[in-house]
Amino acid sequence: MIPNQIRQQFSFRFQTEPAVIVRSPGRINLIGEHTDYNQGFVLPAAIDKAIYLGFKKNHTSKCSVYSLDYGQMEEFDLNELVPRNGGWINFIMGVAQQFKIGGLEIGGFDCVFGGDIPIGAGLSSSAALENGVGMGLSHLFDHSVSKNSLIEMSQRAEHEFAGVHCGIMDMFASMMGKKDLAIKLDCKTLEYTYFPLKLGEYQFLLLDSKVTHALGDSKYNTRRKECEAGVALIQSQFPDVKSLRDVEYSMLVEQRANFSPNVWDRCTYVVEENERLQLACECLEREDLKGFGQLMYASHDGLRHKYEVSCPELDFLVDFTRDKDYVLGARMMGGGFGGCTIHLLESGSAEHFLEIIGKEYKQTTGKELAAYPVRISDGTEIIA
Ligand code: GLA
Repeated sequence: MIPNQIRQQFSFRFQTEPAVIVRSPGRINLIGEHTDYNQGFVLPAAIDKAIYLGFKKNHTSKCSVYSLDYGQMEEFDLNELVPRNGGWINFIMGVAQQFKIGGLEIGGFDCVFGGDIPIGAGLSSSAALENGVGMGLSHLFDHSVSKNSLIEMSQRAEHEFAGVHCGIMDMFASMMGKKDLAIKLDCKTLEYTYFPLKLGEYQFLLLDSKVTHALGDSKYNTRRKECEAGVALIQSQFPDVKSLRDVEYSMLVEQRANFSPNVWDRCTYVVEENERLQLACECLEREDLKGFGQLMYASHDGLRHKYEVSCPELDFLVDFTRDKDYVLGARMMGGGFGGCTIHLLESGSAEHFLEIIGKEYKQTTGKELAAYPVRISDGTEIIA
């Protein structure tokens, strides 16, 4: 049990017990990719892979944090919070800084954390870490910060200390997740509804391409800018438009001559993906998993050809399934350029499927495929 390891390491490193232990999960996203920072819709869920963090005050201005998974201790002073050149400590310092900015007084603390979210696989281990730090510090220093504020603090920490201008989906899903429910989140208003997933004899399965995506290094921020460029073009004729969420396909068509091919593709993808998500939710409501699966494939095609955030390994994992009637749908998941694909398939065929796709994947790419069967779980929580 990871919480026990946290306790043991804590007493080994700091000769005392943690005062608070937090569990903070990773997330999947069923459909609605690269729509969150365009004020659109997403359909994520928290999963049963999580980071656990133990905390205790140390009554100084210094913080000592030990990562079980990296076997590394890092330290920082609350009076000198500046981003470092990469590394997990940035996520922790970033959240600590958000407390200071918000006038929420915190003191020095000791922390040990570790977990089982595969790192760099697109399952939002960084959002889970930020949320876990936020909830842990709020509890430790008696602030009762609301979940919504913690989500926003995590997002700002990511922007400012990791340099990734991510949307709100990852933090929201990790914080607000509920067992066996997906979250339909409107990223414009932050209104959300929980969707029961009645999968019957089907299940979601993640395949890890083992291509490590480093969002910061990737073209993520460029995509965001391309979408903003599209919005600026539309605004010249429709000044009320604030984001791609407010854009209808017909508005894009009217302005088509002014769009570069890239910006055109990015913007049409986002408008289409929002429509796909609405249709996907209708499929879930009428338990039409076949229809849902088709929309997953369409989402992948858009991400691959129009948004251009896929890579050959992810395409392989999706294309391999297209003629397998026990797979209803597949798509790349998350930011892209590596990480995981998500597959909707018949549970009874999962073993056979993994055997054949694993072999082919190894032959084609030289990489060892990893598979994560995931269960939908509760969001960030204090467990001790
Ligand atoms: C990453 C970001 C999210 C979202 C996805 C793409 O996971 O952190 O905010 O933009 O990519 O849907």
